[in-house]
Amino acid sequence: MINFIIRGFGRYAPEKVLTNTDLEKIVDTSDEWITTRTGIKERHVVADDQAASDMAFESAKMALADAGMDASELTHIVCGTFTPDSMIPSCACIVQEKLGISGQACVDVQAACSGFLYALQTARGYLMLEPDAKILVVTSEVISRRVNWEDRTTCVLFGDASGAVILTSGTEEESPRVLDSMLAADGKLGNLLTVHGGGSAYTYKLGEPVGEEFFVQMAGRDVFKHAVRSMSSICNDLLERNGLTTTDVDVLLPHQANYRIIDAVGRKLEIPEEKVFCNIHKYGNTSAASVPLALSEAVESGFIKDGDLVLLTTFGGGFTWGATLVQF
Ligand code: UT7
Repeated sequence: MINFIIRGFGRYAPEKVLTNTDLEKIVDTSDEWITTRTGIKERHVVADDQAASDMAFESAKMALADAGMDASELTHIVCGTFTPDSMIPSCACIVQEKLGISGQACVDVQAACSGFLYALQTARGYLMLEPDAKILVVTSEVISRRVNWEDRTTCVLFGDASGAVILTSGTEEESPRVLDSMLAADGKLGNLLTVHGGGSAYTYKLGEPVGEEFFVQMAGRDVFKHAVRSMSSICNDLLERNGLTTTDVDVLLPHQANYRIIDAVGRKLEIPEEKVFCNIHKYGNTSAASVPLALSEAVESGFIKDGDLVLLTTFGGGFTWGATLVQF
């Protein structure tokens, strides 16, 4: 029986901040609409010379420092992203190079906004096979380069950021300990949230401009309904599998896509608002980065305390969703 211990947390958001008022100058929107419909007040956007690996490098360094580990001790890098620097090499390989190390197994995991829980589960799989592994699980998203800045229904929602944890095995007395995780997907609903561009089903010719399919396209209302339903039901399933109920949960930390979704999931699970972590007002939806970014802030601010049972949940394109229990 392996105990999965989180040794360190890291996060990074680029310096440049784009407020709702800034967006009013770009598309036909208002601070009032964005705030009341989503809870978002501002988001961070990368500098021209930054890519996903640059942010991942920063959050990886923070997680390694928090764990008191040197990069050379790592055995694996698992990177969750749908906005890697390039198709090849993978973001994980580029992060490895930036950390100045080599030899580790490196892989990208693509599960859209559920990327962190999928990457964490992948890392747990490696640890089952190699209990001495020391794994960097890092997520990073540059969504600002994958939204159509003329489409007000999507561009106001997203932001750029990265988050990371270091996962190793340990003893039952150590914490934070990943207790259990459930993942799910339904490809039949894939067309409700897409970024087709760059994929092999789409033909690109040298010199031709990209079309709308290059960017995030979303049937917002449908995604909203599925997000609430899927996250709340997988949380209940995971708790039940562990002989727990929502009253045992000290902190619910959901994917930060829309404050109304976070609120609806909390209500469905009957977890009081004061136990639900939310930082969407500062970052918008940062896809795979949202949960580890929020985790790092929640730990640092003391929102999550020693002894807390923390329930993480995500939902994203694919559709993909998941829930994970962490005992602090
Ligand atoms: O990360 C996982 C995936 N993402 C999500 O989970 C997001 C899920 N969806 C949502 O969060 C919400 O559906 C949105 C925030 C995307 C949209 O909120 P909504 O309350 O579902 O609005 P709506 O799409 O029903 O649009 C309502 C109105 C429309 O106008 P009409 O047709 O009623 O005249 C839109 O054109 O709001 C209009 N609208 C805007 N108005 C001002 C849409 N975007 C904007 C905007 N500013 N940025």
